[in-house]
Amino acid sequence: MRAVQIQQYGGTDTLKLENIVAPKINDDDILVLVKSASVNPVDWKIREGYLQTFIPYDMPLTLGWDVSGVVAEVGSKVTKFKVGDEVFSRPAINRNGSYAEYIAVKEDEAEFKSPKLNFSQAAALPLAGITAWQCLVDVADVKAGDRVLIHAGAGGVGHLAIQIAKAKGATVISTASKANQALLVELGTDQAVDYTAAPLSEQIQPVDIVIDTMGGDVQQQSWGLLKPDGILVSVVDQPDEEVAKAHYARGAFVFIDPSSRILRELNSLVENDELTPLIEHHFTLETVVEAHLQSQSGRTRGKIVIDVAES
Ligand SMILES: NC(=O)c1ccc[n+]([C@@H]2O[C@H](COP(=O)([O-])OP(=O)(O)OC[C@H]3O[C@@H](n4cnc5c(N)ncnc54)[C@H](OP(=O)(O)O)[C@@H]3O)[C@@H](O)[C@H]2O)c1
Repeated sequence: MRAVQIQQYGGTDTLKLENIVAPKINDDDILVLVKSASVNPVDWKIREGYLQTFIPYDMPLTLGWDVSGVVAEVGSKVTKFKVGDEVFSRPAINRNGSYAEYIAVKEDEAEFKSPKLNFSQAAALPLAGITAWQCLVDVADVKAGDRVLIHAGAGGVGHLAIQIAKAKGATVISTASKANQALLVELGTDQAVDYTAAPLSEQIQPVDIVIDTMGGDVQQQSWGLLKPDGILVSVVDQPDEEVAKAHYARGAFVFIDPSSRILRELNSLVENDELTPLIEHHFTLETVVEAHLQSQSGRTRGKIVIDVAES
């Protein structure tokens, strides 16, 4: 099968389209014929070697940890799926990924694809959608009426977080550059904030929840925007407990776990027309280098999808 692999950590020149043997499945795996994969910043962070102390990989490594496709084979212990089922998944990050014609995925990391999503949309949803849900619902316990600040609302995690927070009845404030203000409003944001126009403290009234997708200086500025007892949930930098205490607030860090439970929650929102992944960038296995350069630009709107096979 065709797969985009790296033989060692490094720049985009390490990404090579190879012909390799299709993965063998374990008893609790399904083999998925990949229709689409999506690109997340973690893909190029892993390629560059930033996560190598955290997740030790054997080389060669197939990148890509979002997938949609059709079940091609089931392991002997699999009960939920059969050959031909349409599925999507954020598979385990310590195994070979989805920039390939086939991927082995654990049964409990996959879910049936909603018929409302095409394969590109289904591949765009798992990693960013599960992350947004874990931050907002599992950790911050968002409730109707909460004021929620979502940084980088035009990006992969942010554009889904806006829609999930709105579906939960929150008032959403979100940040983007001037060029993406209209997109924030289209996504349902109640107050779109141009972070280049003035300091955030001059533009944003106190909030109950901050979803921090930027870290660094953006996280530091965000503490002063929280109400007492508010919570800042970061997916980038571990919040400092002392700083949180000094602001009478709480901090939390989320690193996504694969979750078919949350995939089912996301499917429900999709079926209620409350959640639609936005895809502004389509690539193929032949053009993964350009897809990584797009992700690394930091200017991606919505999601980047690699269309592997015709739908
Ligand atoms: N811990 C986890 O489990 C986890 C899971 C998913 C993602 N992440 C991390 O979360 C981060 C975001 O991921 P992503 O997929 O959403 O990235 P992304 O799609 O690449 O984000 C791009 C967006 O960031 C916006 N942006 C850049 N600088 C900004 C700023 N100063 N303020 C507000 N918006 C800004 C851009 O909008 P403008 O062009 O308008 O500025 C662009 O739309 C990455 O570092 C990723 O690795 C972590």
